Amino acid sequence: MKIIDGKAVSEELKNSMKQDVLEYKQKFERVPHLAAILVGDNPASKAYVSNKVKSCDQVGFKSSVITLPEDISEDDLISEIEKLNADKDIDGFIVQLPLPKHISEVRVTLAIDHKKDVDGFHPINFGRMAQGLPCYLPATPYGITMLLDRYNIETAGKHVVVVGRSNIVGTPISILLSRKSKIGDATVTLTHSKTKNLHYIVQQADIVIAAIGIPGFVTADMIKDGAVVIDVGINRVEDDQLTSGSKLVGDVDYEGVSKKSSFITPVPGGVGPMTVMGLIMNTFKAAQKTIYS
Ligand code: GUN
Repeated sequence: MKIIDGKAVSEELKNSMKQDVLEYKQKFERVPHLAAILVGDNPASKAYVSNKVKSCDQVGFKSSVITLPEDISEDDLISEIEKLNADKDIDGFIVQLPLPKHISEVRVTLAIDHKKDVDGFHPINFGRMAQGLPCYLPATPYGITMLLDRYNIETAGKHVVVVGRSNIVGTPISILLSRKSKIGDATVTLTHSKTKNLHYIVQQADIVIAAIGIPGFVTADMIKDGAVVIDVGINRVEDDQLTSGSKLVGDVDYEGVSKKSSFITPVPGGVGPMTVMGLIMNTFKAAQKTIYS
């Protein structure tokens, strides 16, 4: 069994991005600028945003965080988004999800200028992705394809089973891997809470992508010998043995599954750091106007 070391790959990519940023700075006398809107004080969201800021610092990007109160109205949040849409110094921005219940994620996503939508959540980017047109790929699926590429994991003709159909991971990764492309050409089954015979279907997979948000959901009995297992879950669970009282675990029972898989991503240190890298790559493309002029 080989561990897919997302942390190490993301460090390599950050180092090469650092060089690219130096060249960009020489040419344009500015650096790429990413902004993030953080609404409320969800501890996980705060941690994700501070990770994104740290990564921007590491590669030499400028970053800005706009922190807004939990009880902000939807209209006021949209006004903040419109300010960022209009700000010429900001190449791309994200609105960290989840949002408080009184705010419509759909309305927020639609308000973001698709040319600055470095999360790749806007339907224009999503639609372009589905048709194989240039676009910002959603950060987590982008990160997963970079890992599969880096570890030379063949996807053509393989059976990929995706567990979970979210807009930001399960659905887009199933589209990406089924497309005619280098990291693609797979036969993809997208499973979800209403899927019948889920265990049986996952057992057929050459590559399993677990993105369901349930700690330890994918167990060893569901895994074919030699399967590749990509764990997208980041779940905080209680652990009395630790002084912190809790730990992060994925959607895969790592202990059992790693005994049968050929490759597996750990949590933390697998997909997580590559998601941030996907965002960094998209922001650099936004600054260079690679996708939209
Ligand atoms: N919440 C969980 N993952 C993500 C992500 O990739 N982007 C944003 N904006 N929010 C998230």
